[in-house]
Amino acid sequence: MPPVLYPSAAGLLWSCYERTMHFLTVLLFGTALSSPLPRQNGLLGVLDWSLKRKLTFNTDGEFKVVSFSDMHFGERNGDGTFASWGPEQDTNTTIVHSIILDQEKPDYVVFNGDLMTGENVFAFNATGYLDQMYGPTIQRGIPFSSTHGNHDNSNNITHLEEIEYEIAHYGGLSYTRADVGPRPYGCGNYWVLVYAREEDSAPAVVMWFFDSTSFVPDVPAPVPAEANYYWIDENTVPQYVETQSGLMKAVWGSLPPSLVFVHIPFQHSDDLCTLPTVGDHDDDPDPATQGFLNNAYTGLDLPAFQAIIGLAEGKNEVLAVTSGHDHGDSWCARSYNASGLALCFDGHSGYGGYVTPHSEVRNRRVFNLRLEDLSAVNGPMVETWNSYENKTTNDYFVLGPDFMKEYL
Ligand SMILES: *[C@@H]1O[C@H](CO)[C@@H](O)[C@H](O)[C@H]1NC(C)=O
Ligand SMILES: *[C@@H]1O[C@H](CO)[C@@H](O)[C@H](O)[C@H]1NC(C)=O
Ligand SMILES: *[C@@H]1O[C@H](CO)[C@@H](O)[C@H](O)[C@H]1NC(C)=O
Ligand SMILES: *[C@@H]1O[C@H](CO)[C@@H](O)[C@H](O)[C@H]1NC(C)=O
Ligand SMILES: *[C@@H]1O[C@H](CO)[C@@H](O)[C@H](O)[C@H]1NC(C)=O
Repeated sequence: MPPVLYPSAAGLLWSCYERTMHFLTVLLFGTALSSPLPRQNGLLGVLDWSLKRKLTFNTDGEFKVVSFSDMHFGERNGDGTFASWGPEQDTNTTIVHSIILDQEKPDYVVFNGDLMTGENVFAFNATGYLDQMYGPTIQRGIPFSSTHGNHDNSNNITHLEEIEYEIAHYGGLSYTRADVGPRPYGCGNYWVLVYAREEDSAPAVVMWFFDSTSFVPDVPAPVPAEANYYWIDENTVPQYVETQSGLMKAVWGSLPPSLVFVHIPFQHSDDLCTLPTVGDHDDDPDPATQGFLNNAYTGLDLPAFQAIIGLAEGKNEVLAVTSGHDHGDSWCARSYNASGLALCFDGHSGYGGYVTPHSEVRNRRVFNLRLEDLSAVNGPMVETWNSYENKTTNDYFVLGPDFMKEYL
């Protein structure tokens, strides 16, 4: 039976009803009544700093983010033939993370999807892998959040289960939420604010996190691998980005620069991968991307892409969109082909998952946000590089108005 692409009519009606009711509650009460978190001004983020530490730039005016991707914990778990495979990879992955965290000393960590290999885990203890994965970050007291990948949904684990576990167990340091999107498979869509100074009421940067899903509504799991359904939900997320960013503008007077994280890259990265850029290109010429169903490109990743472009307001105010999924890619590029938006890859920080020649030495992307770069006259900029488990760094460059401008 071919997978059903669209939700049923009843489902659509219900989802419209839900959204309308939510909108009305927000309008009337400035808060959603069913919300587990306090909501102010209709903004769905954490704005009550008695509950969560307000994220701020350090006294040097810097805020460094490390993005780990494709950890694939629990790989081949319980498979007798590969009894030692998973546990040994997992130990190595936590060592890699510890090395990188000590090398980079980030202010924030992003786990950018495929936290575990969901096909291989057991329902009764799957979330135990999250304890292992967050361990080095928790031990160092670093705030963090997650996006969720195609392998984080399976018979035995879902995006929502991972999110609820993370919030319940690590809520002090975790900034992850499930604001909108299909539950339980595509709901990890949210944003997080970083302020220049503790006393500021408007943030200096908005970090957006999106859920590239991996499940066909109404089709019982597991979806056949060949269904290949991966894209940010086109029914809820674009509207969410528009309304939330509209409220941000209304409350703060203008929209700060954005940095975007999503596990599976937009299909536009296929149009950029042949451009000359530093970083690994092992998964080119066609990095696996969002928007495909049964191996045919649907274009259904474009509504979310357009909504992200909308955050730029015609200027170069979306610093980058960074993804994992393609373990052998760690480049950034931009051109007119993707409306000038910089699309980046994180590399591969896990010992689980497939390995390509250049991803053998595990690596991940670092963004070093600096207040002076964000307020640069010609438009905001951000430094970025790849950081390796062999305690080296490489591929340093600055994303901003001058980055690959010859291709605009
Ligand atoms: C774990 O890391 C060690 C040291 O780098 C390496 O020798 C070993 O092969 C790795 N194990 C696996 C399963 O990749
Ligand atoms: C899922 O978990 C159950 C029980 O925890 C286990 O019996 C089953 O083998 C696991 N894997 C799959 C693919 O269902
Ligand atoms: C889950 O249980 C399986 C089977 O007993 C075991 O091999 C695996 O190590 C456990 N995983 C975690 C994260 O506890
Ligand atoms: C634009 O996309 C096309 C099709 O993928 C590609 O051949 C071309 O090199 C791209 N050009 C630029 C400047 O991005
Ligand atoms: C570290 O790994 C990178 C990436 O594979 C490699 O280019 C570099 O030569 C290595 N450096 C050392 C000192 O091992």
